[in-house]
Amino acid sequence: MDKKLMLTGLQPTGTITLGNYIGAIKQMVENQEKYNSIIFIADMHAITVPIDADTLANNIRQLIAIYIACGIDPEKNLIFLQSDNEYHANISWMLECNTYHGELSRMTQFKDKSAKNANFSAGLFTYPVLMAADILAYDADLVPVGIDQKQHVEITRDIAIRFNKKYGETFVVPEPLIREAGTKIMDLQDPTKKMSKSSESQKGVIRILDDINTIRKKINSAVTDSVGKVNYDPENQPGVTNLINIYTSLTGMSKEEVVAKFENANYGEFKKGVADVVVAEFEKIQARYNELINSDELDRILDEGRDKAREIAKKKYEEMKNKIGLRR
Ligand code: AMP
Ligand code: TRP
Repeated sequence: MDKKLMLTGLQPTGTITLGNYIGAIKQMVENQEKYNSIIFIADMHAITVPIDADTLANNIRQLIAIYIACGIDPEKNLIFLQSDNEYHANISWMLECNTYHGELSRMTQFKDKSAKNANFSAGLFTYPVLMAADILAYDADLVPVGIDQKQHVEITRDIAIRFNKKYGETFVVPEPLIREAGTKIMDLQDPTKKMSKSSESQKGVIRILDDINTIRKKINSAVTDSVGKVNYDPENQPGVTNLINIYTSLTGMSKEEVVAKFENANYGEFKKGVADVVVAEFEKIQARYNELINSDELDRILDEGRDKAREIAKKKYEEMKNKIGLRR
């Protein structure tokens, strides 16, 4: 059987954390063996809310370099920037004209974000249709998203089904692939709180581009408890348990194996063990990142991705135009 086509978009916001790495990127690296895969940077979605131009440009390049440095393989994935492919916006317009104002008004993300800023953009409102265009242009079967984006995949399905009915079979109707709630990595300073990109806490959040000494320091000053023994006990030893989770996620060892390994260790020794594992992984990623970030290689990958993506999306665009009656 042919492999299914998986497609996912990533917004270029914030700096990737150890939590993102363990919870999302590692899965993407595993998935590239299972599926045909398209991964793009949803930079046009990022401008639906105000964002400084230079910050945006830096984020875009940095994010692409990070993903590739983490092992997203350009040979196995089609990788490109959304804004490099003008067909997304063109397809989005034709889909917008087949989307109801009412259904967009019901989107939870829109309701939340528009409530926060009375001067919200029209783009914030049509955001889900651009997302539908991203997905439908490539006939994607599967769309891995966090739970917050599930509604946008559902509206994509509704739009696809409606268009297919009105104009004849045009789009594959995609399925959301909700990321399994894998191991949640917690803030090192407050292990009851998720380690989050947008967190104010600097000491508790490990970022993928933090320098190695900073990473060691952060892990060394992680909050633990007064038990003094390495146990897997989320209830009474959440800090230690979080460090065990980090260790298992990066080494593939089971939690029992990790507990046994550090049976006679004090917390200082245990933390050093955890830091060694994180540092070993991030050193490799950072080395690759530094090679890539200012390289032509990165531009070559993006140029090639853009050309392939445009070719696919252009076909869909022409087909839609023709079916809709936008012809001479
Ligand atoms: P966010 O940074 O919140 O936009 O999250 C992007 C994706 O990264 C989420 O869908 C999760 O799969 C993953 N993720 C984010 N934070 C964590 C965390 N602390 N632990 C595990 N996975 C996470
Ligand atoms: N809206 C998604 C998010 O914020 C990003 C995104 C844009 C996306 N287009 C997509 C995800 C298409 C999957 C498929 O996470």
